[in-house]
Amino acid sequence: PHALYGTERVNSQGLDLSDENTLRRLARVFLDAGSRPASIRETPAEKRRDAEMPIRNPANRDDLVGHIAFLDGSGIGNAIQRAEAAFPHWRDIPAAQRAAHLEKTADLLEAEMPSLMALIMREAGKTLANAVAEIREAVDFLRYYAAQARGPLQTATPLGPVACISPWNFPLAIFLGQVSAALAVGNTVLAKPAEETPLIAREAIRLLHESGIAQDVVQLIPGEGAAGAQLVNDPRITAVLFTGSTDVARLIQKQLAGRLNRDLTPVPLIAETGGQNALIVDSSALTEQVVTDVLASAFDSAGQRCSALRLLCVQEESADRLITMLEGAMRELRTGTPERPDTDVGPVISAEARAMIAEHIETLRQRGHRVYQTSLAPEAGTGTFIPPTLIEIDAVSDLRKEVFGPVLHVLRYRREDVAKVMEAINATGYALTFGIHSRIDDTIETLKRQSHAGNIYINRNLVGAVVGVQPFGGHGLSGTGPKAGGPLYLRRLLARRPALPAD
Ligand code: NAD
Ligand code: ALA
Repeated sequence: PHALYGTERVNSQGLDLSDENTLRRLARVFLDAGSRPASIRETPAEKRRDAEMPIRNPANRDDLVGHIAFLDGSGIGNAIQRAEAAFPHWRDIPAAQRAAHLEKTADLLEAEMPSLMALIMREAGKTLANAVAEIREAVDFLRYYAAQARGPLQTATPLGPVACISPWNFPLAIFLGQVSAALAVGNTVLAKPAEETPLIAREAIRLLHESGIAQDVVQLIPGEGAAGAQLVNDPRITAVLFTGSTDVARLIQKQLAGRLNRDLTPVPLIAETGGQNALIVDSSALTEQVVTDVLASAFDSAGQRCSALRLLCVQEESADRLITMLEGAMRELRTGTPERPDTDVGPVISAEARAMIAEHIETLRQRGHRVYQTSLAPEAGTGTFIPPTLIEIDAVSDLRKEVFGPVLHVLRYRREDVAKVMEAINATGYALTFGIHSRIDDTIETLKRQSHAGNIYINRNLVGAVVGVQPFGGHGLSGTGPKAGGPLYLRRLLARRPALPAD
């Protein structure tokens, strides 16, 4: 085993959702969680609630999941001051001890898995399977970066207080991925979760503290975008880890370009952003396998993955058959409340998100594009749902902005035009995930070489990169690198580092 790659680590095993006893146990926890708001633990007086932000369940807007107080400007300033004061102590703790805290946090996450799943499902609208995957990925990040910190990086010098700004679509995994990376190498952390999902982030911070990490070493900064902007603009923040939209990443990059760290080096930014992810399917591909992989890639997590498939390009000879089969399979997907174990597709995150996706579908419909849309389960009425939707388009350029929901665009191409299609995909500027379904080696090799994407998947689906096995991240408009869950990530979070084999 090589410590740099964390290969002595074992990925989290998660839960067996085919086991009836496990499902019964989960159902009991969910019932209990559903009957009380998640803020009870930290809200002593009923009157305090008025000043706090209510968080609602996207699958049922009448379900109040909990409350949280968003920090104001001076609260954020104080938190940064405490993070700066706590830095020398955390920096000087032996790397192995820091790693042990992260590993302990991973154990605590596994021990509390059912109640954390319940919260993720209610706050972020995740299905049962997605909630398990979310916790597994968070555990994997903690153990992976801990393993790395024990390796050659242990003599490296950290930077100082680091801002971690994360999105709602992986409210635990990405949140803890960023935070654990920054902590592993000795930085202190100001963790700004998405405004839609601060409650699960608060639980994650509680577990980090329970593992023995001091309160000021890692602090939660609940708030809206302005809270993130304040962190980015504060000269005491020495690096920014951002995952979210490309537009916000560009804004942050611009702001950071205006200042330097105290040692007169640029402020490091790792930005992981959106995608216009495509899959090219030629006529040699196995249609049944393509259908299975497209369903997972486009509609899992209600399409709310940066890795999700947005554009399916099908060689015209096999297009009619594939599209017919795909629509048949889409009809079988259940779109409804995530609490039901047979639900495949949950809600989108908010009413605003639903409106934007619905507008996109309507615009293409009015332009004359064929739209196929499935229907919702009966209980979906009170939530923000969009049923899986397929839209036929005529050119890659019909795709403008990333549509962050369960919408799959399908383009038919002629065999002789495949290079042009690939060129147009690259020309979007996004380069996150890309897939090929073919049984012709030459085709696979050529497309693989031509694609700019960070993660390329061949004859499989495009989602669910596994920490330490499939480092994840894009190029161009999709991100700065280095890839999350890969051997180079921690090195961006250091002021000085020892020479490594990969240098
Ligand atoms: P977003 O950009 O709206 O918000 C992300 C975070 O940035 C939130 O915490 C938000 O409060 C904060 N923020 C907003 N304005 C800010 C500002 N001016 N300065 C600093 N922080 C600010 O993104 P989102 O809607 O939460 O997430 C969805 C997006 O994230 C999609 O585009 C998706 O593709 C992308 N994403 C990328 C990856 C990846 O690994 N590449 C993973 C998950 C999500
Ligand atoms: N890492 C996540 C995936 O691969 C975004 O789907």
